[in-house]
Amino acid sequence: MDQEKLIVSKIKKGIVIDHIPAGKALKVLKILGITGYTDYRLAIVMNVPSNKLGMKDIIKIENKILDKRELELISLVAPTATINIIEDYKVVEKYKVKLPRVIKGVLRCPNPMCITNKPDEVAETIFVLRKLDPVVLECKYCGTLIKGDEIEHNLSIQ
Ligand code: CTP
Ligand code: ZN
Repeated sequence: MDQEKLIVSKIKKGIVIDHIPAGKALKVLKILGITGYTDYRLAIVMNVPSNKLGMKDIIKIENKILDKRELELISLVAPTATINIIEDYKVVEKYKVKLPRVIKGVLRCPNPMCITNKPDEVAETIFVLRKLDPVVLECKYCGTLIKGDEIEHNLSIQ
């Protein structure tokens, strides 16, 4: 339950991304552009017990704010995530990430024949949310459906 507290302390200011599905923390960090050296002071907690999820991951980043794009991307790989904004050691804001109904430009279409994969085509990809649990997205141009791990494998940032 509070096993996380045995591993990492509370932060003064920043964000806590909680209820990340176990194993997805590193992918979330990648989305935030953190893949190696970083100036942020941060903690990654993986595989702690969660009432809702069985096991979960948590990321705490001091003095970081998230933009809309980052939140959208996080929702694709960690649809269960909760964002906690911390000020002066207190949670001043808490919300769940929300999958956008339409996702523009951040995913590739896996269909090689799709117009969005034509070398001379500059149209950005558009996916429409078709199902929530599990998440199913549909390419607006060719109707290809992507779900589960395919979603993160087709993120245009890798
Ligand atoms: N947290 C933190 N530093 C703080 C305050 C909170 O790192 N100064 C972390 C907590 O350790 C927890 C998350 O932020 O991982 C959310 O905190 P809180 O809302 O107090 O915990 P819960 O009530 O357990 O959250 P929830 O109901 O969303 O599961
Ligand atoms: Zn397509």
